Amino acid sequence: MHGYTYKGPVNCTRQPDSHNLNGTTAIVTGGANGLGEAYVRALVAAGVNVCIGDIDSKRGKELELELPGTKFVQCNTASWDDQVRLFREASEHSSSGRISYVVANAGIHRPDGVFTYDGNNGEPEKPDLSTIDVNVNGTLYTTKLAMYYFIKQNGQTPSAEQEDTCLVLIGSGAAFLDVPRTPQYDASKWAMRGIMHSLRRTAFYYGGRVNVISPWYVRTSILSEETFNSIEGLGIQFATVEDAGECLIRVLSDKSINGKSLFVTARKWAERGYMDLDLEDYDGIELLQEMQEEQMRAAPPEAGLFV
Ligand SMILES: NC(=O)c1ccc[n+]([C@@H]2O[C@H](COP(=O)([O-])OP(=O)(O)OC[C@H]3O[C@@H](n4cnc5c(N)ncnc54)[C@H](O)[C@@H]3O)[C@@H](O)[C@H]2O)c1
Repeated sequence: MHGYTYKGPVNCTRQPDSHNLNGTTAIVTGGANGLGEAYVRALVAAGVNVCIGDIDSKRGKELELELPGTKFVQCNTASWDDQVRLFREASEHSSSGRISYVVANAGIHRPDGVFTYDGNNGEPEKPDLSTIDVNVNGTLYTTKLAMYYFIKQNGQTPSAEQEDTCLVLIGSGAAFLDVPRTPQYDASKWAMRGIMHSLRRTAFYYGGRVNVISPWYVRTSILSEETFNSIEGLGIQFATVEDAGECLIRVLSDKSINGKSLFVTARKWAERGYMDLDLEDYDGIELLQEMQEEQMRAAPPEAGLFV
């Protein structure tokens, strides 16, 4: 495993070969429904043991019964203690004790009090920031615990003995497109790219990789059926949960993929339903390249993990 280098966009036109994932263990937060469930199903099909962390225990337990190799742990990702227990139980669920892959998928979308004009007696109302609590704080807890386990398993010195590990953060079209009226959700999804950019140059110390998967509209429970119907009614094509599942397998099965964002998109834009928009580096923009180089001089990855 080497430090981060830009090698151009990921080829997303071939079916991933998942054989190297067989027998490994993964955690999927928010894995009981929607896109999370699709990631779980794709991982199980690739022979991965999956620990599902979700607040929805009814659906989580149903999946555990249905899918061999899965274990459900009730977990609110906004709670540090819940996530500590999730990772401990995932490690116990793994025959080797190792956790190889973590998909930080749990996320919510709510009406945004940061945006709305409201207030009693002429006073603004304090906005509810629960979207940040789950989407950002919860994901930072997941990130901290993923790195803790990866470092515990692989040490802090790059070597050929280190086994591949990967953290996958879940962004959105709202992580790079303008989406009006939801500043809190949009900030939370841009944040996924920020976490990835911060870690992608040091993850190699512990044999790690960090990537982002950003879905376009996918019909799940995150928005109401009415909202999805009205968007679809405008002729907007959605992406699918199945393509999201394959995208995850593409990222996890290819050890060369680090520091990337893949966009799960409508098939009209990508033949397999996902693509690398190549947004995470500034290839060809000399000024930004120069600034990035200076930034690396100021905060060099060679300083190690904890400096
Ligand atoms: N569906 C889309 O169009 C779309 C687009 C872009 C990004 N995303 C992102 O994909 C991820 C999954 O979304 P989805 O569409 O499958 O949503 P969903 O609402 O269908 O499923 C979300 C799952 O997360 C669980 N969950 C919610 N809060 C939790 C918490 N605090 N702790 C643990 N589990 C929790 C829910 O119980 C549910 O199982 C989210 O991060 C979302 O922002 C979705």
